[in-house]
Amino acid sequence: MTSTLAMRPAFLLPLAAISKIGSASSTVDLGPMIVHESVAALPTAFAHVSAVSPDEEITLRIALAQSDIVGLQDRTYAVSDPANALYGQHLTTEGVAEFVRPPPAASSAVFTWLAAHGLTPTSVSPFNDILQVTLPVREANALLAADFRTFTHVASGTRSVRTLSYAVPAAMQAHIRFVHPTVAFVPPLRVPGVAVVKANHTRRSEGVERRASVAIPASCAFDTNPSCLQAVFGIPSAKANHSASNVLGVAGYIDQFANIADLTRFLANTRPDLAGSTFSVQTMDGGANDQDVFNAGIEADLDIQYTVGVASGVPVSFISVGDDSQDGISGFIDIVNSILKTPAAQRPTVLTTSYGFNEQDLPESLAVAVCNAYMQLGAVGISAIFASGDGGVGGVQPTTCTNFVPSAPGGCPFITSVGGTTNVPPHAASLFSSGGFSNYFPTPNYQAADVAAYLGSIGTLYEGLYNKSGRGFPDVSAASHNIEIVWQGSVNLVDGTSCASPIFASMIALVNDRLLAAGKPVLGFLNPFLYSTTGRTSFTDVTSGHNPGCNTDGFSATTGWDPVTGLGTPNFDGLLKAVGL
Ligand SMILES: *[C@@H]1O[C@H](CO)[C@@H](O)[C@H](O)[C@H]1NC(C)=O
Ligand SMILES: *[C@@H]1O[C@H](CO)[C@@H](O)[C@H](O)[C@H]1NC(C)=O
Ligand SMILES: *[C@@H]1O[C@H](CO)[C@@H](O)[C@H](O)[C@H]1NC(C)=O
Repeated sequence: MTSTLAMRPAFLLPLAAISKIGSASSTVDLGPMIVHESVAALPTAFAHVSAVSPDEEITLRIALAQSDIVGLQDRTYAVSDPANALYGQHLTTEGVAEFVRPPPAASSAVFTWLAAHGLTPTSVSPFNDILQVTLPVREANALLAADFRTFTHVASGTRSVRTLSYAVPAAMQAHIRFVHPTVAFVPPLRVPGVAVVKANHTRRSEGVERRASVAIPASCAFDTNPSCLQAVFGIPSAKANHSASNVLGVAGYIDQFANIADLTRFLANTRPDLAGSTFSVQTMDGGANDQDVFNAGIEADLDIQYTVGVASGVPVSFISVGDDSQDGISGFIDIVNSILKTPAAQRPTVLTTSYGFNEQDLPESLAVAVCNAYMQLGAVGISAIFASGDGGVGGVQPTTCTNFVPSAPGGCPFITSVGGTTNVPPHAASLFSSGGFSNYFPTPNYQAADVAAYLGSIGTLYEGLYNKSGRGFPDVSAASHNIEIVWQGSVNLVDGTSCASPIFASMIALVNDRLLAAGKPVLGFLNPFLYSTTGRTSFTDVTSGHNPGCNTDGFSATTGWDPVTGLGTPNFDGLLKAVGL
């Protein structure tokens, strides 16, 4: 750890520091403006609308250089790798701050530059590495040699103010990672592509694959429900006991509200032993959790029902992120900063997210910032678990494509990506489970041998359509087909990796409960453990099925790790054994 920063971590920078820097401003020569980021052309999903009124206000976020992000990556791997002496020794928030805080020279240089433009930024990260200023477009154009204009995302009609290029003074280049929102044309988050079917319990589920040799648990006869998951994955029904400090966080976005009446009815139908269980609500960025039954969100209902109803007795917190996010990525970074600011005993130990983007829709700077944010969760001992997406090799949702489209943050090596399977042995992979290889993040060590083995097995198939040196995902998979939920008062069946993420997250939360009861640390960032020799024994390999997209059959599930179902489906007793319980 090499940070020499003297400033105490404070959410707001001390005013004294600001004025001192400001007074030195006018004499400093910052050099010529150098283009910092640009896009060659407007992405086809967007259209230019018009100039922006020069008086319109815009809020910019300036991401500063961090003291030692590579050091934090190394440390996060060390505390997450069962073979490392530091395993389980998660950092405190202050420990993370020492790596993430900007070097003093970066902060003071950027403050000097902004002060010269009459701007006083506020800090919007717990580590002061993201500053925010609000200013008229006229001044933003001058500050960044930019040309902010109004664009719309054609399919949704969503309006945004962006520029095709921006510059910073030469003296700022090394101190600024990026300024945002500038060149990021990110389509708005959509409700994941869950297919909905009204439940019909007069016939057996068509989705259940039957093999004469494999007994189907009776609870899985009609659909996938918590009892079926308990039978298939060995999930216990006993209530967790070490609850208070082991919160399971459920991320909610785009006004998807989790309905309490729907949950109550779901528990009555499927987990009468959990009657009365509910969840707490945290809101941010103007989020809410409206209880009008017609505002119940199918995704939010699914996520809450398959956490409260599977992670028996674990306190569940629904974190509803509203539409006022300023991070340019629908709140995916804001939620991390909010969690890191929460006292350790109250924040989640596991966070499940069933929303995602296509990696190519994020500028690399933003994709890296998102990934490093979730890495910070891993560093403090929080497992970040995401649905892999529902578009097969074509991205988070089915799309027209030639090259394969990895999902984000699925390609981030510091999150655990969960693909989808059908529910009953032999766990054939569903046709939608997104998987593939990142174009931004290289293959991490923990999966290098698995990725090499898989790529060796497919030879030249799809050569040129995907990135052979990228991080492969998903890491694991779980049930995603014919999942029974109650939505807006009635029973429905849904499909999608959106189901798999909360189910797997619930299993990890239950393992954490046992670890805490045994006086051991929680699992935190999972992947080095999952791919370890012992960790992988807790998964049932999925060897059939594939994930079509981009006019191909997609990748095929096969023996060992594959970019359709990862290491396979989890087994609870196997997980307990692998963690030494
Ligand atoms: C339910 O399935 C049965 C048997 O296939 C069929 O006769 C009935 O029409 C279905 N009901 C609904 C509401 O789809
Ligand atoms: C929690 O305690 C109850 C009562 O002692 C017990 O029945 C249950 O199995 C315990 N749960 C776990 C996960 O150990
Ligand atoms: C493939 O992935 C590597 C490693 O992340 C990256 O350096 C390279 O730019 C990627 N190639 C393409 C064509 O995206």
